[in-house]
Amino acid sequence: MNRNLALEFVRVTELAAIESARWMGRGDEKAADQAAVDAMRKMLDTVVCDATVVIGEGERDEAPMLYIGEKVGSGDGPELEIALDPLEGTTICANGGYNAISVMAIGKKDHLLHAPDIYMRKIAVGPDGVGAIDINDTPTNNLKRLAQRKSCSISDLTVIILDRPRHADLIKEVRGTGARISLIGDGDVSAAIATALPDTGIDMLLGTGGAPEGVIAAAAMRCIKGDFQGVLVPRNDADTERARKMGIKDINKVFTMNELAKGDVMFVATGVTEGSLLKGVQFKSWGAITHSLVMRSKSGTTRLIQANHHFDRKPVY
Ligand code: FBP
Repeated sequence: MNRNLALEFVRVTELAAIESARWMGRGDEKAADQAAVDAMRKMLDTVVCDATVVIGEGERDEAPMLYIGEKVGSGDGPELEIALDPLEGTTICANGGYNAISVMAIGKKDHLLHAPDIYMRKIAVGPDGVGAIDINDTPTNNLKRLAQRKSCSISDLTVIILDRPRHADLIKEVRGTGARISLIGDGDVSAAIATALPDTGIDMLLGTGGAPEGVIAAAAMRCIKGDFQGVLVPRNDADTERARKMGIKDINKVFTMNELAKGDVMFVATGVTEGSLLKGVQFKSWGAITHSLVMRSKSGTTRLIQANHHFDRKPVY
């Protein structure tokens, strides 16, 4: 993949972030999400590529735009697959909370897992923990191994977990190990990435969130050389059937990071609301300032891009 494509794609998340950020704190999740979807869809067609959405807003019959299988991009150029979430953390944005982002992972054809929109149990760690995690082992043993790798005690580690009733036992066990916990309301993509970035203070992600978000997070972890594993969690027969329809034969399979997102992948994200990973959109009299993260697995380069958008010179806004 041409490396400059990553810089083309960041324009897409920038615009989606700006448009959804206008809805920050206004209590309207749908409007915030719709603004992000509309902007992302519009901007994607300005990128020279022949891309297919493999993770998007839903099945064709339930999502009018950015549905799974939709063709995006100019139609010529490289054949790509895109896993996207125009607004990761719709509730966060509607409440004006922390860590809502607009995000996309890009790979070559058949390089991103076509994950069903069901739950996935996840574990993620940064570069220090590569090879030390096993999603089928207990949280306690995973934390023990990570502490060894980091030459610290378990009580020095912080685990990030979505604050959900389904995680009651997990939280109890992690507390029992002495590890610290950061409970978050939403947004396990940025939570996974936080394990791999310095200065976030987060060491491990544990718990169950969306499978589509798992694929996007795995692409990011490939770029920053962290580690990620996921296992699908069907809640009923319909979920199992959805997975089967998408070609997943073994529902208990442990998906490694490289199986979720293989080959060369790119990852772009722009902050919508203020966050530990990225600053949120700031509106000015002349336009807006955005902060984005752009990464490629091939080079491992991580770019933090601050962009000043002058609305009077950009008709697209
Ligand atoms: P949305 O952006 O679709 O609101 O997803 C936010 C999120 O918190 C994800 O980060 C996470 O994977 C998933 O929802 C968890 O699902 P649930 O809210 O059903 O527990």
